[in-house]
This record gives sequence, structure tokens and C-alpha cells, in this order.
Amino acid sequence: MRNERGMMRLDGKVAVVTGGAGGIGRGIVRAFVKEGARVLVVDINDEAGRALEAEFDGEARYLGIDISKHENASRIRDAANEAFGPVSVLVNNAHASRQAPLIEVTQEMLDLSFGTGFYPTLWLMQACYEQLKETNGSVINFASGAGIDGLPTQGSYAAAKEAIRAISRVAANEWATDGINVNAISPLALTEGIQAYIAANPEVEEPMLSKTPMHRLGDPEHDIGRVAVFLASDDASYMTGQTLMVDGGSIKLR
Ligand SMILES: NC(=O)c1ccc[n+]([C@@H]2O[C@H](COP(=O)([O-])OP(=O)(O)OC[C@H]3O[C@@H](n4cnc5c(N)ncnc54)[C@H](O)[C@@H]3O)[C@@H](O)[C@H]2O)c1
Repeated sequence: MRNERGMMRLDGKVAVVTGGAGGIGRGIVRAFVKEGARVLVVDINDEAGRALEAEFDGEARYLGIDISKHENASRIRDAANEAFGPVSVLVNNAHASRQAPLIEVTQEMLDLSFGTGFYPTLWLMQACYEQLKETNGSVINFASGAGIDGLPTQGSYAAAKEAIRAISRVAANEWATDGINVNAISPLALTEGIQAYIAANPEVEEPMLSKTPMHRLGDPEHDIGRVAVFLASDDASYMTGQTLMVDGGSIKLR
């Protein structure tokens, strides 16, 4: 959306969005491009990634790559540079996990959750640091109510999510004088995954909604993507180390 001077809020920004081909990530990509950003969409779902790329006129480029491999962090940064220039916004959104009672959590579950959530978040922050410094950039990481509230069966996921919030605060402190702000979003959104889960288990919908004061699940682009636009924009430049609850009021942080 252009302002009275014909500018959009993310004009000139180069963003990397992990897990950008589906769910909340895709909502963020759409919201970013509408505000003038150019976006590298990082995912392993090639079909969805190419379909998203085709929605735009070159403003979004898809890179099919697995973020759980350490060496891919610098490849992702380099691909963004080649496509658009230095990275000014890093969105660490992708995260895969499996649920089990704490007593049954396995090393494999921990490796999946930390390997797709925590480690790639750290590696990409490290790989993009110099460019974020050069561009006075922003990092947007992803937290979860499952971590903040310690939801049952979410041991491996909750631990990785809270570890992500911990390094977000450390980076906020260390990088503030470099002009980089680092914040986290804790979302609640109706993604295709959650839609399919509700379709297969209709009884889960009402309890989910009754815990949400707004009584609806957020829209990935309009509810979550627009908050990510704010955090990526210069409007949020005096804000760092925060977790924004974008969840219809489900959790009230104090
Ligand atoms: N949806 C919600 O209500 C909700 C609630 C709390 C937190 N979150 C968090 O928000 C973020 C987005 O959630 P979502 O529901 O849209 O997730 P999702 O599972 O719908 O999408 C994740 C995307 O990441 C991609 N991905 C998975 N593993 C990858 C890998 N190794 N390399 C590259 N890409 C990979 C997937 O292909 C997919 O496109 C996640 O961090 C999630 O934990 C979501």
C-alpha cells in the first residue's frame, strides 16, 4: 500500500523467509511483496514454492533447500544476494516437530525440532549478521504459545521455541548498537495444516476457539503477515527483544 508520497512500507528491503511456501510463511511473503519488499522464499515444498513465485512479477524468488543442514545457511544468504542484494530482513519461520508426552520424548524428536527450528534460526542469524548490520536490518523469529504455556505433549517443540526466544533476546542486546532489531512473533493462524487437522478431528475446533478471546484463528497474511510487515519496517526500529503475541488474545504476557 502506498502512502501519500507514493512509498510502500518495505520499499528497498530484501527479505529471506524460511518455510515461506506455505502456512504463515506464505502469508508473510504475500504481505511483504505488497509492501514493496523483494523476498527469497526458502522451503522444501517445491510445488508450493514455485506456485507462490508465479503469483508475482519477480519480487519473490523460490529456493528449494533444506534449512536443517548447517552449510545451507550461507547458501541461502548468497542466493538472496544474487537475486536481490544484501539481506535486510530475516524471518526464521519454518519449524517441524512431533508431539508426545514428555516421558516418551525421543532423541529423534528433539533432533527434528531443534534441527529445523532452533539451529537454522541461529545459523541464519550468524550468516546474515554482517549484511543486517550494513542495512540496519531486522530479524523476526517465531515463538509459540506451546512453549510459553508449556502445553502437554509439546516437550521437544516447546523447548526449541523457548530456546529461540532466548537467543532472540541475546541478539537484541548484542546487536542493538549495530542497528539490528530482533523480535519474535507468537502466532495463532489457520494454516492448511491446521485446516486439515480440524477437518480430520472436528471435535478439536470448539475447544481451540473457546481458548481464544477473539474466537477465531488468525489469517496468515492479514493477521500475522501485517504484524511481520510492521516489525520489518522502519516503524519498529526502536523495538527489540520483544515477543509479540499475535494470537487473538489467547495468551497475555506480563
Ligand atoms: N499455525 C499456528 O497457529 C502456529 C502457532 C504457534 C506457532 N507457530 C509457528 O509459526 C511458524 C509457522 O507455522 P505454520 O503453521 O505456518 O507452519 P507450517 O508447518 O504450515 O509451514 C512450515 C513451512 O516450513 C517448511 N519446512 C519444513 N521443514 C523445512 C526444512 N527443513 N527446510 C525448509 N523448509 C521447511 C514446510 O515445507 C512449510 O512450508 C512456525 O515456526 C510455527 O512453529 C504456528
